[in-house]
Amino acid sequence: MCPPDVFQELPKINADSQRLEQVLTNLVSNAVKFTPEGKSIVVKSELVNAKDLRYEECFTPILDKLEGEYILVSVKDEGIGIAKENLLHVFDKFAQIENSLSRKVGGSGLGLPIAKQLIEAHKGAIWCDSEEGQGTTFYFAIPVVTELQVIK
Ligand SMILES: Nc1ncnc2c1ncn2[C@@H]1O[C@H](COP(=O)(O)OP(=O)(O)O)[C@@H](O)[C@H]1O
Ligand SMILES: [Mg+2]
Repeated sequence: MCPPDVFQELPKINADSQRLEQVLTNLVSNAVKFTPEGKSIVVKSELVNAKDLRYEECFTPILDKLEGEYILVSVKDEGIGIAKENLLHVFDKFAQIENSLSRKVGGSGLGLPIAKQLIEAHKGAIWCDSEEGQGTTFYFAIPVVTELQVIK
């Protein structure tokens, strides 16, 4: 049985649900692609304050701008992992890491840069952390309060 906090109700966000679904689909399909059979993939969402976020230094310019409360979604896999020096570059257009598995499975190298644009359109952020050979976690955070601007 799941602990009760797994079903914790999260605050509402101002978002385009189809676009967020597209981002999540991208992250989960990458996780499936780069994780061997029998290993696990965990998707989670939680309420966090930006000041409690921990991340690799390369993401500081993106993440230290965040303030206040966010819904944090994470996709954690037990796959091949990403070397620290490549964490930022996987968000570049048409970028794929040179290794036998990513070349074998194919892909356009556009999934993550598109996800980044969609998340930034929501005033959010997307980043990842990884241990090579152990697995990778992708995160995206969407602000809980985004005022709708009324144009007169
Ligand atoms: N979960 C993951 N584990 C390991 N490497 C990943 C993962 N997600 C993405 N990558 C790396 O980032 C690259 C870019 O991903 P993406 O932009 O989605 O393009 P594509 O999936 O078309 O290759 C992948 O080719 C792979 O090298
Ligand atoms: Mg992809």
